[in-house]
Amino acid sequence: MASPAFGANARSTAVATVRTDEIEASRVILTREGLLGENVHVSYFGLLEQDKRELFAGRIAARRFRAMLVDLGSGASFDVVVVPGEDRIESARELDHAIDGQVPVVLREFSLVEEVVHADERWLAAMAKRGLTDLSQLRVNPLSAGVLSAAESGRRIQRCFTFVQKTPSDLGWAHPVDGVTVMVDVVTREVLDVIDYIDLPVPQEDGNFHEAAWVNEPPRAGIKPIEITQPDGPSFTIDDNGVLSWLGWQLQLGFDQREGLVFHNISIADGGEQRPVIYRASIAEMMVPYGDPSPQRWFQNFFDCGEYLLGGFANSLELGCDCVGDITYLDAVLADAAGNARVVPQAICIHEEDAGILWKHTDNWNGSSDSRRNRRLVVSFFVTVGNYDYGFYWYFSLDGSIELEVKATGIVFTSAYPGAGYEFASEIAPGLGAPYHQHLFSARLDMMVGGIDNAVDELEARLVPRGDRNPTGTGFTQVATRLSSEKQAQRLADNALGRVWVVTNPSVQNRLGGDIGYVLFPEGKPVLLADSESDIYQRATFSTKHLWVTAYEPDELYPAGDFVNMHPGGAGLPAWTAADRNVDSTDIVLWHTFGLTHFPRLEDWPIMPVDSTGFVLKPHGFFGRNPTLDIPETMSDHCAPGHHSEPDHHEHHSKGQS
Ligand code: NI
Repeated sequence: MASPAFGANARSTAVATVRTDEIEASRVILTREGLLGENVHVSYFGLLEQDKRELFAGRIAARRFRAMLVDLGSGASFDVVVVPGEDRIESARELDHAIDGQVPVVLREFSLVEEVVHADERWLAAMAKRGLTDLSQLRVNPLSAGVLSAAESGRRIQRCFTFVQKTPSDLGWAHPVDGVTVMVDVVTREVLDVIDYIDLPVPQEDGNFHEAAWVNEPPRAGIKPIEITQPDGPSFTIDDNGVLSWLGWQLQLGFDQREGLVFHNISIADGGEQRPVIYRASIAEMMVPYGDPSPQRWFQNFFDCGEYLLGGFANSLELGCDCVGDITYLDAVLADAAGNARVVPQAICIHEEDAGILWKHTDNWNGSSDSRRNRRLVVSFFVTVGNYDYGFYWYFSLDGSIELEVKATGIVFTSAYPGAGYEFASEIAPGLGAPYHQHLFSARLDMMVGGIDNAVDELEARLVPRGDRNPTGTGFTQVATRLSSEKQAQRLADNALGRVWVVTNPSVQNRLGGDIGYVLFPEGKPVLLADSESDIYQRATFSTKHLWVTAYEPDELYPAGDFVNMHPGGAGLPAWTAADRNVDSTDIVLWHTFGLTHFPRLEDWPIMPVDSTGFVLKPHGFFGRNPTLDIPETMSDHCAPGHHSEPDHHEHHSKGQS
């Protein structure tokens, strides 16, 4: 076998979610109806999925798409439903910004803000006061604004910080000009206010990790290659509809500008039957609140799905893949700001990898010694949202478990460190601060364990009181509590009690008569650390609980509401669950909050090594016994008895390495 170069065996297929012809046809309709024109930017464009109940009843409608539009000339914005297959607009609603909020930030706003700020006399004076007069070095960083006063209500605002980028190749995040906040109305293109709170020295040490001369260390010696070889190719297949099949698993892949990867119809084989587990899974929101309450930055928090549409920032892995082995890539198809189709080549990476020991036992009585290796299917993508980079890695394993690992890396948001003992930031380089913050994600899991009607039980460990049932005081048990209504199902994790949530199907039983289920293991790290009266608590109430369960409604997709940008708060989960609908033995959706609370370390600068967060779902009485007894003893020759690699082994099988 020859040794093809990286990517030579990669296949590239467009994901089925939105097709380029559907985007182009929609653009023609939107233009014809006067909705798209000069100054109008397409903020979001995506598939508006059909009501699951209609689909299951066999009523398949023409595909509908949702377009969110903003006219940066007039400020008007629209929420539009277009049906390209029927050449028509179904609805077009103009937003009332004071009530509805704004459509997500569009790319034009990033460059526009710097143009506007660079021309403002007050900001120029604030910079001159600090000796900063070379405009070519001053980067203006627009931040989603929230709504902090009545005067801001209904406007489209960015709050801005300034950074010094000494040269075009310099890392600007190393040099924050802290203490000055600028408010820009991106529609009227006016600077509403420049607030010069405090004069803090601009940190001077560079952070140019991308330049060998700055790093000033020889490359570490002694690193020998690790080559992953799959001489017969991967064990999965993918069809033209994006249906991925792998060793009993089936799932349909999609990609959305707001949520990134979207999975539909996740199922796993049990005997001869393909049994559903999840109807739809995605990351429906993620939010990064900063914990420094000082006046120039207390408002700082970013909704990377609802305000910035993180799927639209998917990296093209043509530029460097982060997976090793035999890789299959899929392109993502999105709309650009003008409504044209935009293909992100190789946005999604699919591969399988070894996952250590699956099970193992050496029996002292019967002398048997058995061991099996686990492996997992990995579907991933990476996004860059401002200073941070996030990788989303969904793992499907032989034992029926589903795991999401989110990898956070990139550059921490920086400030000027005010002085020793400051309680809201770390000092990560001389005079350079990194405010404490959280990364809080909301997984939307439209469960379908063995069928549509599911229920959720909270399981936890409990000591049994000493007495007749427990005379020795050593008894403990597991207690199940049914979460019957939406308000009852707003829960925090409690790792001291081993608290988990099992999604069951009361009408499908396993071989011992119990309801089949899948159990959600939360990491149980901190939820939102903000006072209940605070602005961010009102806007991100979803992130104050680890678990919410709602009754399925097709238009309940985003836990902080549809229009998060400049929304006054209260939308999404808190609004929907006010009715306290029944969630016992009906069609339910789980919303799981997880994430990192980040107190930056010196080692997180100048670029942060990956930190991980996520959750695990495991079958819980879903199968009648260990579902992996059929896994063969050896899946490769590497651990076969007496095996020794030939000296030139690696030469023969190294392919797909990245
Ligand atoms: Ni962080």
